[in-house]
Amino acid sequence: MSELKKHFAVIGNPIHHSLSPQIHAAFAKEAGLLIDYEAVLSPLDQFKQTVQTLITKKLNGANVTLPFKKEAYELANSHSNHAKIAEAVNTIEFKEGEIIGHNTDGIGLVRDLEQNLHVNLNSKKILLIGAGGAAEGVIYSILEKKPTELTLTNRTIEKSNVIQNKMHAHAKSFNVNLNVIEMTKLPHHYFDVIINATSASLNDVNLHIVDQVFHKGSLAYDMMYGKETTFIKQAKSQASQTSDGIGMLVEQAAEAFYIWHHIKPQTKAVIDLLRKN
Ligand code: ATR
Repeated sequence: MSELKKHFAVIGNPIHHSLSPQIHAAFAKEAGLLIDYEAVLSPLDQFKQTVQTLITKKLNGANVTLPFKKEAYELANSHSNHAKIAEAVNTIEFKEGEIIGHNTDGIGLVRDLEQNLHVNLNSKKILLIGAGGAAEGVIYSILEKKPTELTLTNRTIEKSNVIQNKMHAHAKSFNVNLNVIEMTKLPHHYFDVIINATSASLNDVNLHIVDQVFHKGSLAYDMMYGKETTFIKQAKSQASQTSDGIGMLVEQAAEAFYIWHHIKPQTKAVIDLLRKN
């Protein structure tokens, strides 16, 4: 490998489906940078060894995906504010011998909503469905935008309560009404933005949320991409605007690219290309 060429990787299990190598190659081409970005399958019980092996091969930075974001958080010596609050890391930076953990997922979601889909979150009513890592990773970034209300709901409501408790002080500091409502007891009125952060879409499972949370002025956003989910079909039946999570994927990658290279890549052409494919 050329000395000039920097080496990056995305580490996950499974990883063969990852679009990150394609996205980073496109950003690098546009920026005129020589990089090598590979998808690395880590055995489930060997995440740390996988990172160490890559470090010996002169790794310059890495993205981390499921199921290793918590382990990456534990591996890092220091953390960005977003990673610290989410207790999860999706971007590793090496600086002066230290491993710095970042989390760009929330920034990616908010940029896609605000810059690409032109939906300002400030003073809006937002419903977030799900209480796994995907949901937890984006809550602080949503709160920062100061919506009027962020309602959390999940099949297992206790998990939403745990997140609410963890985020209570942040919500208060941003003056956001952060509440939890059981999925079967959602109000019969609409939210401005409804975000599906569950993995139910993977299996085409119906979430059984009331139609009334959608509205023709709402945006329904599924963090999943690659197919029209049951959630998106339900939102369309209520005439809501809809989006999958491809823009979030590209925007979180753009933020990681910025962390490593200090260059902000253009994202629109890459989003359009991935959508077309
Ligand atoms: P991730 O880290 O990708 O968020 P996760 O931690 O397994 O993955 O969380 C998956 C989320 O999808 C959870 O909110 C889960 O609900 P539970 O907490 O009740 O498990 C949700 N989910 C998965 N399958 C679902 C289904 N069939 N119906 C409703 N929610 C579902």
